[in-house]
Amino acid sequence: MILAITGPTSGIGAITFQKLTPHFEKVLLLARNPKKAQEMIDSLPKEQQAKAIYIHTDLASLDTVVDAVNTIQNKVSHIDVLINNAGGIFHEKTMTKDDFELSLSANHLGHFLLTNKLMPWLLKSSNPKVINVSSEAHKAAKVNFDDLNYKKNSYSAFNAYANVKLFNILFSKSLAERYGEQGLQAFSLHPGVVKTNFASEAGGIFKLFWVLAKPFMISADQGAQTSIYLGKNKIPAAQNGSYFKKSKPAKTSSSANSKSMREKLWYNSERMLEKWM
Ligand SMILES: NC(=O)c1ccc[n+]([C@@H]2O[C@H](COP(=O)([O-])OP(=O)(O)OC[C@H]3O[C@@H](n4cnc5c(N)ncnc54)[C@H](OP(=O)(O)O)[C@@H]3O)[C@@H](O)[C@H]2O)c1
Repeated sequence: MILAITGPTSGIGAITFQKLTPHFEKVLLLARNPKKAQEMIDSLPKEQQAKAIYIHTDLASLDTVVDAVNTIQNKVSHIDVLINNAGGIFHEKTMTKDDFELSLSANHLGHFLLTNKLMPWLLKSSNPKVINVSSEAHKAAKVNFDDLNYKKNSYSAFNAYANVKLFNILFSKSLAERYGEQGLQAFSLHPGVVKTNFASEAGGIFKLFWVLAKPFMISADQGAQTSIYLGKNKIPAAQNGSYFKKSKPAKTSSSANSKSMREKLWYNSERMLEKWM
């Protein structure tokens, strides 16, 4: 069994990586910081370290995502579980060098590209799974498909974050819908409100709220539980495409259930990523 995980260098992803590694033969750390990735490999018990392979992947630089996919295809024959965990909220509007708004690229577009390009490798597995780490923040989404990069309207960090976390759920459902008959399962999840490095690049009221809420947050160990549950257990076919909280299917917003939103997101993502797909 082979696992690939984005964002394994901090918080929820770091614990997910450490706790799932014993259950897999190989684990690919898709990360942007080689030093942090090496520290994560070194944090494993000695006998497990040889299982872990660092693959350079910056989700805000789409050429690196394409390179990562090529490297993966040279190193392993298939992938059983892909966990799209990396993400964040960014106070200032920042455009990536590919000219996408940063939270859109780091939370959604990078993962959309990675997953689609890895699809032939996932479909070689007997029970492939894609797990997208979303958030309850998706319930506050207000999506304008005509301005996903905030070129016409003013940027709000929380709105941009809520939107991309909605996209994680829509993307999971689309994957289940498009590839379920070929055996793929896809899930999204809310990890809880978790004390991690999350929001270190936030600002304003949201940052203040986050700092004040820290004493009440759950640990990264607890926050990783649903990712770990979905990553290592056999999940009933009837739950394919579902959104999970506390390791159980949970209710989403009505937008997250909308077929037309799913189709618009897929269409717009493919269009924006044409050059790399
Ligand atoms: N914490 C919460 O309360 C909470 C609640 C709901 C959902 N979530 C979601 O949980 C996931 C994990 O967040 P966390 O709380 O564990 O936060 P975190 O401690 O800040 O970890 C974020 C991870 O994403 C990686 N990352 C960020 N931008 C990237 C990029 N451009 N390319 C590649 N990797 C990138 C980071 O890499 P570096 O180590 O190199 O920075 C890090 O490994 C996120 O998707 C977040 O939206 C968190």
